[in-house]
Amino acid sequence: MDSITLIARAKINLYLEILGDRSDGYHELAMILQSIDLADEVEVRNLSTDRILIRCSHPQVPTDESNIAYKAVELMVKEFNRGFALHGGVEIIINKRIPVAAGLAGGSTNAAAVLMGIDLLWNLGLTIQELEELGATLGSDVPFCFAGGTAIATGRGEQLSPLPSLDTIYIVLAKYRSLEVSTPIAYKTYRSRFGSSYVKEKNSLVERAAAVHSGEIVKAILHKDVKAIASKMYNDLEKVVLPEYPQVLQLREMFAGLDGVLGTMMSGSGPSVFAICENKEQAEAVKLRVRTAIPDDDLELFVTQMIGHGIQVKKNLV
Ligand code: C5P
Repeated sequence: MDSITLIARAKINLYLEILGDRSDGYHELAMILQSIDLADEVEVRNLSTDRILIRCSHPQVPTDESNIAYKAVELMVKEFNRGFALHGGVEIIINKRIPVAAGLAGGSTNAAAVLMGIDLLWNLGLTIQELEELGATLGSDVPFCFAGGTAIATGRGEQLSPLPSLDTIYIVLAKYRSLEVSTPIAYKTYRSRFGSSYVKEKNSLVERAAAVHSGEIVKAILHKDVKAIASKMYNDLEKVVLPEYPQVLQLREMFAGLDGVLGTMMSGSGPSVFAICENKEQAEAVKLRVRTAIPDDDLELFVTQMIGHGIQVKKNLV
C-alpha cells in the first residue's frame, strides 16, 4: 500500500469546566466532547525519499514543522525507526474543510489521522489505546479524535470515558474566518481572573471530575434528551473569550434568540459558536436567518450533525 486517505472529523465541546491547575502547567478539566460530521480529508503517502512533506492549500495552514501534522510524522519516525527505515518518508496532503483556529480540534484531528495513517502504511498494528497515548504527547484533544463519538474527557483532556453516542442531532456552526483565539492565552487569562477559586486539593479535584460523570448533562445524554442536553451545555472559557470578542458574543446572542434553536455554546476556546437545532430543516432556516442578518463574507456558516465516531479510512490505493 502506497497511500491511505482518512476522514478526520472535528469536535465540539458540549461541556468544558476548568477545575484547577496542574503541575505540568496545563489545567485539570472536565469536558464532554462530541464528534461532528464536518471533516478534513488527510492523505498519507509513502515517499521514496526520507523526507516529510506537508501539503495544504488553505492559506492559514502552515506546511512546515510548526504544523501539528508534521510533528505527528516526526513522532512516528522517532518511535518506529524500523518502519521509517523500511518505508521511507511520508507526504501528508490535507484537504481542509474544518475552520482553522476555531476550537474544533482541526489540527488535533489531522495529527490523529497522520498517526493512524502511518500505523496502517507501516503495518505497525497499534491499538487505539497505543495511538491515544502517542497522540496525547502532541496535544490534549488528539486522543479523543481517534474513536470520537461522545466522551467525557478529564485530566488534561486526554483521559476518556466513552458515552453512548449521539448522532443525527443537527447543529449550525459559525466562525469568522479572520478571527483567531489563542488557546494558551484564553487559558492564561482564565487563570489570572479565576485562578484564586481553583480547586487545590487532589481529593476535591477527583470528586469534581467524578461529579461530571453523574451530572445533569450526562443524564441527558444517556436519555438522548436533546432539549435537556442543549439546556445543560456549559463552557468556562466563554467568560474570558466572549467579553474580548464582540462578534462572537453577537453570534452567541443571535443564536439564542432564534426559533428552532434549543441551545447554543462556544466550542473549546472559540471563536466558533454552535447552535443545537430541533431538526435539519430548522438548522437550515437558522443558518439562513444568521446569513441574512450578517451578510459578511468573513462569516463561515455550516449545517452539520453530531456523529458517533471519529477517524475513518476513506480508500486504499495499492
Ligand atoms: O494540549 P494543547 O496543545 O492542545 O493545548 C494548547 C494550550 O491550551 C496549552 O498550551 C495550554 O496553554 C492550554 N491548555 C491548558 N490545559 C489543558 C489543555 C490546554 O491549560 N488541559
